[in-house]
Amino acid sequence: MSKKPIYKTWIRVNKIITFLVISVLLILVLLLPMNFYLHVSVVILLLPFLYILFIISYSYYQFSDKGGDYQSKIHHLIINKISYKENIKILDIGVGSASLITKLAKSFTKASLVGIDYWGDDWEYSKQICENNAKYEGVLDRINFIKATASNLPFNENEFDVVVSCLTFHEVKDETDKIKVLKEALRVLNRNGEFVFLDLFLDEKIFGKNDEFLNTINSLEISEVKIEKLKKIIKLPPILLHKKALGNAMVIYGKK
Ligand SMILES: C[S@@+](CC[C@H](N)C(=O)[O-])C[C@H]1O[C@@H](n2cnc3c(N)ncnc32)[C@H](O)[C@@H]1O
Repeated sequence: MSKKPIYKTWIRVNKIITFLVISVLLILVLLLPMNFYLHVSVVILLLPFLYILFIISYSYYQFSDKGGDYQSKIHHLIINKISYKENIKILDIGVGSASLITKLAKSFTKASLVGIDYWGDDWEYSKQICENNAKYEGVLDRINFIKATASNLPFNENEFDVVVSCLTFHEVKDETDKIKVLKEALRVLNRNGEFVFLDLFLDEKIFGKNDEFLNTINSLEISEVKIEKLKKIIKLPPILLHKKALGNAMVIYGKK
């Protein structure tokens, strides 16, 4: 029997379990005999945990292929922005569990691909998961997975025809200036090569003031750039529109 790939969602299962356990413990505490004020205090403590538990569980469901499948829909949206077709070399920065890169490999059947990720302990992804998923999808022979950081890519300038990245730049902890991470991604792209970056670019705490960020993007040495809010190009369920989910997400794409 052929094995099936397992793509993790952008919501960590451990996070859901942590909030579930704390919520259950607080509910159990409520069952104990206690005075009214203590009871009210525990309820007040419990409510934010229940709220967050609901948000992350619902988001998990919407991202997963058992629910709304939005993670996959967003990956296809990235792929649809790429016009190159033949014998291209593609880089995916922050490859996660290889969900986007295997779809790229299946869409561009003559492409060779590289997926990098630092696969830290704070995520439930690994190089092994990527390789298994690519193997089960029948595309492992064309993908090279490399452990590396997005802030210092182990590649020469102009090495790739296409560079993509999905929800990774904002996660990079070893570089506080996320514009530098974006420039590093463009460094390894060929002149005239195509890039598609999807991230929480509207989050001012991460990418700086929106106006300044857009000015910086427009001042980069790239021949074409388009910028679109994610919510304008795909209809998202209301909870995914929350700023802590994808409300701040934007797609930046074009040619170097
Ligand atoms: C929200 S996940 C997105 C994964 C994948 N791009 C996707 O769309 O399914 C963020 C990814 O960024 C990776 N990441 C975080 N910091 C990184 C860094 N400094 N260099 C490379 N990858 C990093 C994480 O390991 C994780 O795989």
